[in-house]
Amino acid sequence: MIILKMGGSVITDKSTYRTAKPDAIRKIVGVLSGLNDIVCIVHGGGSFGHIKAREYGLPGPKTEMSSMGYSIVHRDMEELDLMVINSMIELGMRPVSVPVSSLRYEGRFDYTPILRYIDAGFVPVSYGDVYIKDEHSYGIYSGDDIMADMAELLRPDMAIFLTDVDGIYDRDPKRNRDAVLLREISTSPEFDQVQNDVTGGIGKKFESMMRMKKNVKRGVYLINGNHPERIRDIGSGSFIGTVIR
Ligand code: ADP
Ligand code: IPE
Repeated sequence: MIILKMGGSVITDKSTYRTAKPDAIRKIVGVLSGLNDIVCIVHGGGSFGHIKAREYGLPGPKTEMSSMGYSIVHRDMEELDLMVINSMIELGMRPVSVPVSSLRYEGRFDYTPILRYIDAGFVPVSYGDVYIKDEHSYGIYSGDDIMADMAELLRPDMAIFLTDVDGIYDRDPKRNRDAVLLREISTSPEFDQVQNDVTGGIGKKFESMMRMKKNVKRGVYLINGNHPERIRDIGSGSFIGTVIR
């Protein structure tokens, strides 16, 4: 059993509002459609999520402005999601979207619909999304948060995160040419050094991956989504990526 997240950094151009990378989506789905143990797919938002969220004050208190932003961000995420769903259907998969904004009851997410779809043989697809946190505020639940919840619920063999770099490095590989790819990480102290160097995104992602590892039998992987065929190399000597276990 595998759960997988396509990062916003690989399926969108993160710097230009609402710009998808359809070829990257198709390439990834092409590999996923050939695996028979994918049970649940999650994707991030990239430029369909973060840009407008920030502009409209999300996450944050409920105001006229953030309420408008809530509708816009959710609509944009649905648009990106539809591209993922279309690719999956074209390649013979049976996806069904389950947005977490509709799963929030009494202060928590109720994932029963996702579990029902898995039981019925579908591949539920969820994504980083807005949600009503309480009477006075809105939240944003990231794809990484959903992956952590799925790991706890499903106890999969593998959890795979696809992003736009080859794995977790000792420093940001986009800023440091000499950054070293960390192929296997088992304890957090090894990452302490890294954590000082990284900002938001990857730091939080790493934290969720570390928290997840107890619920994932064979390992939590970070792989370059521009080379999704590397998923097939997991476990072999030629595998390129990072595994946390
Ligand atoms: P995604 O959108 O795929 O979920 P993020 O954009 O949040 O992922 O994080 C991936 C980005 O994190 C990469 O593009 C990379 O430049 C950056 N990054 C910063 N520090 C590191 C690091 N130590 N190892 C790997 N990537 C890092
Ligand atoms: C963000 O989800 C969703 C919104 C901002 C609505 P993620 O945090 O999982 O997205 P990426 O992968 O970092 O782009």
